[in-house]
Amino acid sequence: MHIPSLAPGAPIPEKARAIAYKAREAYGLVWVCLAEPAMPFPEWPDDAWNRPDHRVILVNTYDWKASAGRVVENAMDFSHFNFVHLGYTELADGPVIKPYEVTKTERGLNYAYDDGHLLRDYVIEFPFIVHDRKSVVKVGNVKTWSDNEESKPGDITCLSFLSAPIDDTFTRIYVFVGRNHSLDKADAQFTGGFDTVMEQDRVIVETQRPEQIPVSISEELHIRFPDAGAVQYRRMLRDLDKAEAFVP
Ligand SMILES: [Fe+2]
Repeated sequence: MHIPSLAPGAPIPEKARAIAYKAREAYGLVWVCLAEPAMPFPEWPDDAWNRPDHRVILVNTYDWKASAGRVVENAMDFSHFNFVHLGYTELADGPVIKPYEVTKTERGLNYAYDDGHLLRDYVIEFPFIVHDRKSVVKVGNVKTWSDNEESKPGDITCLSFLSAPIDDTFTRIYVFVGRNHSLDKADAQFTGGFDTVMEQDRVIVETQRPEQIPVSISEELHIRFPDAGAVQYRRMLRDLDKAEAFVP
């Protein structure tokens, strides 16, 4: 380090330095650790990036004027499918949500929902990653764009939403789609429709107020089964908020 206007031998001010962050390249992105201690590095369902019988591609990125928390809650929620995304992601057995279990994991949350046609495994890597891993459990009754007439039980299509907060009210969403089937077909067959679906969500999420998810769970209305995942997510955000209050 050399500051030419300083007298020779004068000490270099401590602030005159570049701040280095730990970084890692994975899943086609660069990940930066902005604060210690680092959270566990995100994993990917089925280890799909490393397996030759799976394929994962970036569909697109989307910039929303919304907080990352609101974006994540939208990606976690499947009760809106039969109202907002008819013909795309709708539940085969209708809009009434049956009870389902939410499990807290070391890295976030897991819950699954079986609509008789598709089993949706949600893998939440706290705080900002949502995987919606859909596997075909029964053929026929095709209503969504994650399967087709050739689908067979065991086919997995995984929609992944990685939300990067640009600031408190602006989020860049990286959307990936993975599959363990139809690897001989063009990727474009599996990326169509995302712009439409994301736009259907964006106009709703951007109007949510307050922009930040309230820390108190009781501040907004939750419906028992449809919002079971979101309630757990908010508890984790609340706990994170408390923990950060003690950071010097
Ligand atoms: Fe949606």
